[in-house]
Amino acid sequence: MPSLFAFNQARQYIPITINPIKLVWVDIILKKIGVDMKWQPNSWREFPIKQVPEYPNATMLKDVEQMLEKRPPLVFAGEVQDLRQKLGQVAEGKAFLLQGGDCAESFAEYSANNIRDSFKVILQMAVALTFGAGLPVVKVGRMAGQFAKPRSANTEVIDGVELPSYRGDMVNGIEFNEASRIPDPHRLLNVYDHSAATLNLLRAFSQGGMANLNQVHSWNIDYVKDTAQSKKFEQLSEKIEECLQFMSACGVHSDNTRALMETDFYTSHEALLLNYEEAMTRKDTITDEKELFTTSAHMVWIGDRTRQLDGAHVEYMRGIANPIGLKCGPSLEADDLLALIDTLNPDNIPGRLTLIARMGADHVTAKLPSLLRAVDKSGANVVWCCDPMHGNTVKASSGYKTRRVEDVMREVEGFFAAHDEVGTYPGGVHFEMTGQNVTECVGGVVSVTEESLGDRYHTHCDPRLNASQSLELAFLIANLMKKRRDQSAGIAQAV
Ligand code: PEP
Ligand code: CO
Repeated sequence: MPSLFAFNQARQYIPITINPIKLVWVDIILKKIGVDMKWQPNSWREFPIKQVPEYPNATMLKDVEQMLEKRPPLVFAGEVQDLRQKLGQVAEGKAFLLQGGDCAESFAEYSANNIRDSFKVILQMAVALTFGAGLPVVKVGRMAGQFAKPRSANTEVIDGVELPSYRGDMVNGIEFNEASRIPDPHRLLNVYDHSAATLNLLRAFSQGGMANLNQVHSWNIDYVKDTAQSKKFEQLSEKIEECLQFMSACGVHSDNTRALMETDFYTSHEALLLNYEEAMTRKDTITDEKELFTTSAHMVWIGDRTRQLDGAHVEYMRGIANPIGLKCGPSLEADDLLALIDTLNPDNIPGRLTLIARMGADHVTAKLPSLLRAVDKSGANVVWCCDPMHGNTVKASSGYKTRRVEDVMREVEGFFAAHDEVGTYPGGVHFEMTGQNVTECVGGVVSVTEESLGDRYHTHCDPRLNASQSLELAFLIANLMKKRRDQSAGIAQAV
């Protein structure tokens, strides 16, 4: 049986031995009497864990973890606190969250052009949303660390051959052979290096001129040009240019106003491999506050398959000070959600917790309103964000995993309608998308058909929206936000 820490009389921690199943009850009882179990960056190791690989060589794994501990942080406490504060604005209905990027980043698809194009599409989407919502848009990439995947099956069978499932480039190789499917700890170092280089580029893009609003025309991606979305975006760009000229005449221009010249762009991933997160957990040495952060990304989230209250992932995430996300799938009941909120955000800090609803277009209307009501009634400060991807994955007759753009849109609309019904704020959206010209999701104005899925199907995991489909969705959401804005202006006028 594993050991765990508890208090002795002198309020020092002593190891005790306990059955992990009972752990959550011990924790709850101790919390009720005002004693929080001691959280440590490694206390998750005492809890039951799901979706992590079994490495054949424990010594090699330990060596890699120690090497990671010595690597510099990828993000800094000040940036993480900024994001938490901005998400606090979202929780209060004063900003909107746009989170997007690959389902799974991969070493094979890794290139400066791919990173640049995804970044450009996110900027375009953010501009459309800013116009629609009339609010600042907080931009968070599923980038620079999104390399590990939870899987619904432990093994995969092809032509009668059964092998362990591919769990993302952070764990094993996608090639269907026995050697490549063996989990390799050195991949953790490789992920660190790829993430560091991606972040370096993202920082350069966001602060080195590309995000300058005067460059808005150059954000259009070549293969999307001449589409209806692109034309709509051009019209928006012209409006922005007019505004910039007017502001420049008034003395406000990108040479003297940071907000016009650069943008804040944050990174996020699913914190699936807790040994990696543990090794990247650091104290802020500048402010010397007590808070500990994972410095692997600004924001990390808990997946729908690893959100057990008594599980290792919840244990790790409750102790770090980063803003965190929690995926909320259709099997999540209101009582369980409230208990998770209590554990993950006990001080009710706005911006600390983002609930990412991924119900599926067919379930959102039936499932979401009761969760919204329960959370609203509890007084919890949360951001509600819509992931319209993961509840809408289907298999095309050709065998490709796909998503229909119309289902994605239907879930977004259902998400907004649920918030309208309950009177809560639809705070953001979470997309799997890419700037590449892929054919992975079916539909859209420049329609990808089931037959054409095979043309450019490059994803290492789930199907992503291409640039044109992403822009189309951004305009849809911008309209929904504008409608809300017009409605509340109407109500204000009537009053
Ligand atoms: C994901 O975001 O890639 C994912 C696996 O989501 P979920 O945990 O919601 O299934
Ligand atoms: Co996915």
